[in-house]
Amino acid sequence: MAEGKHVCCVVAVIVGALVIMTIALLATSLKKLASDEVGIQYDTIQKELGEEVFTEGLHTGPPGYEFLIFPSVYTTLSYSRLSCLNSDGVPIRISVSFQFKAMLKEMKAIILDFKDFDGYKDVLRYSGEAVIHEACSKFNTSQFQAERGNFQTMLSQILRERYTNMKADVTDLQVNNIERPNDYEAAIRSKERAREDIQVAKNERPRLITEANTTRRNAESEAQIILNKANSDARIMQNNAEREASSIVAQYDREAEAYESIVSAAGLGFTPEGFISYLGVRVIASAKNPVYIGLQSPAKTTYTTN
Ligand SMILES: *[C@@H]1O[C@H](CO)[C@@H](O)[C@H](O)[C@H]1NC(C)=O
Ligand SMILES: *[C@@H]1O[C@H](CO)[C@@H](O)[C@H](O)[C@H]1NC(C)=O
Repeated sequence: MAEGKHVCCVVAVIVGALVIMTIALLATSLKKLASDEVGIQYDTIQKELGEEVFTEGLHTGPPGYEFLIFPSVYTTLSYSRLSCLNSDGVPIRISVSFQFKAMLKEMKAIILDFKDFDGYKDVLRYSGEAVIHEACSKFNTSQFQAERGNFQTMLSQILRERYTNMKADVTDLQVNNIERPNDYEAAIRSKERAREDIQVAKNERPRLITEANTTRRNAESEAQIILNKANSDARIMQNNAEREASSIVAQYDREAEAYESIVSAAGLGFTPEGFISYLGVRVIASAKNPVYIGLQSPAKTTYTTN
């Protein structure tokens, strides 16, 4: 009876141990994946990596396995104010963000290359930064100003190529900001101001020319008026002078006639010297003040002719 009791106890212990072992085995071979996760089984005892990619849910596997987990959704990588040199050697600051997701069918290869998701993500981050530097160096400063859309397209294209080689898909790339150095911005602004000033000056030019033309025409017509007046003054003076000259000549003619009638009445001949002496006498006679003249002596000889 005592021996039977002993056997019974041993069986109970063995059964109990089996139950505990089964529970333990079940516990270590049953793992759960969340809705945004995918995983590959890794047998930590045999050091074996599975082939199949599991999605959300409870999954059994070899005892003691664990899941190497990747996100099943896109993960965002962003770069804020990353500094790069453009093709002119001008430093540019760029903010870029995009999303990537590992190609699930390549998950085993990715794990063999990069160990786990964090390792993979680190490498993708460095690679993305290198791509930004490369795209940056293909554009010059004025292109960064005028062709931002093209820059984004090129960046996206290089990034897709590079990430495809590393078995990741890219989506939703955005270049959020492109900043040029402050002094460059200042130079651009002052250049634009100068261009506006030049435009204003150009617009003003016809008006200023018209104004100058008007001023010149006014000066020209003023000059013409002055010239006309001078000409007419000159004509008047000339006429006056001519009139005066002819009246003087007429006066002398009359004196000559008077002298001639005097000398012919006296039975004398007309001589120039006699006429000049006569004129001298006439001048002296009509003068109101004393007159001093130095007449040549021929006057006398004329008087003394027989
Ligand atoms: C920038 O590159 C474009 C296209 O290659 C070119 O036409 C332009 O002259 C360049 N500008 C400067 C300032 O170098
Ligand atoms: C100004 O005068 C010049 C020379 O006479 C002439 O060629 C030009 O057309 C004029 N301009 C205006 C705006 O009147």
